[in-house]
Amino acid sequence: MNKDLPPTGECNETAKRYPGLFHQIDPAALPYHVAIIMDGNGRWAGARSFPRIMGHKEGVRSVDEVVACARETGVRVLTLYAFSAENWQRPRAEVRALMGILKEYIKKKVRVMQEKGIRFRAIGRIRDLPENIQELLHWAERETGANQQMTLNLALSYGGRAEIIDAVQSLAQEVADGRIRPEEIDEAVLSARMYTRDCPDPDLIIRTSGELRVSNFLTWQSVYTELYFTSILWHDFKRKEFLEALLDYQKRERRYGMTGEQVKGKEDAS
Ligand code: IPE
Ligand code: IPE
Ligand code: MG
Repeated sequence: MNKDLPPTGECNETAKRYPGLFHQIDPAALPYHVAIIMDGNGRWAGARSFPRIMGHKEGVRSVDEVVACARETGVRVLTLYAFSAENWQRPRAEVRALMGILKEYIKKKVRVMQEKGIRFRAIGRIRDLPENIQELLHWAERETGANQQMTLNLALSYGGRAEIIDAVQSLAQEVADGRIRPEEIDEAVLSARMYTRDCPDPDLIIRTSGELRVSNFLTWQSVYTELYFTSILWHDFKRKEFLEALLDYQKRERRYGMTGEQVKGKEDAS
């Protein structure tokens, strides 16, 4: 895994700032796809008597650090949960502010993504977002579409169950049109209709802020994902904390229903 990618090539801020942690990373045990539930912005702001919106604005710094760190360590897919299907229920002013932050982020960061070889994708019910944002997202996807170092998926108006429903509806239409027979439907067929169809399932899901739930995130894709919960709020989750999560993942044995002996045997055999 990742053998084709020189993670330490150009200026590697992560290696420079955290050489001890960075060098403990085993490229062979690196998660290919990391997904993050970026939670705790409201509590970070509340603890300082700031408006919640300030917490969201500040959270963008953590996004920048984690995107750079993922790229510098050689993670190939990073999926960030930025706005859930349920988040539409929040106060209108907060939703509006989040859309504003999103707009600024995309406008500013496409250039950085080009420099770093990052392909951008928006996943979720993008059609529910304001039209100008939809256009901006499609522009960013087009601009960065050929980049190959890392894929950054931003989950927006995203719900795991909604994603499954969208996939099932499109499949039902294909059956009705006679393009596929019901008995041909298997996991691969359904996976190919998910928003994440061109990415492997996440190896690691991180959630910040101490909540021990997945809140409708990557429902179909996460059946065998390793989970990492930390009480650190998103504002304080930066390169060091991301490296710590990777190192924790590295120690785990993924068994997929088999015995530990079987898994070890397989490793020896390969
Ligand atoms: C996560 O932070 C960001 C979004 C859901 C958009 P929250 O806004 O949920 O922060 P808390 O959970 O209220 O602290
Ligand atoms: C999950 O956080 C969604 C995002 C991080 C975008 P929430 O704060 O909305 O989740 P709940 O409501 O606490 O489960
Ligand atoms: Mg929250």
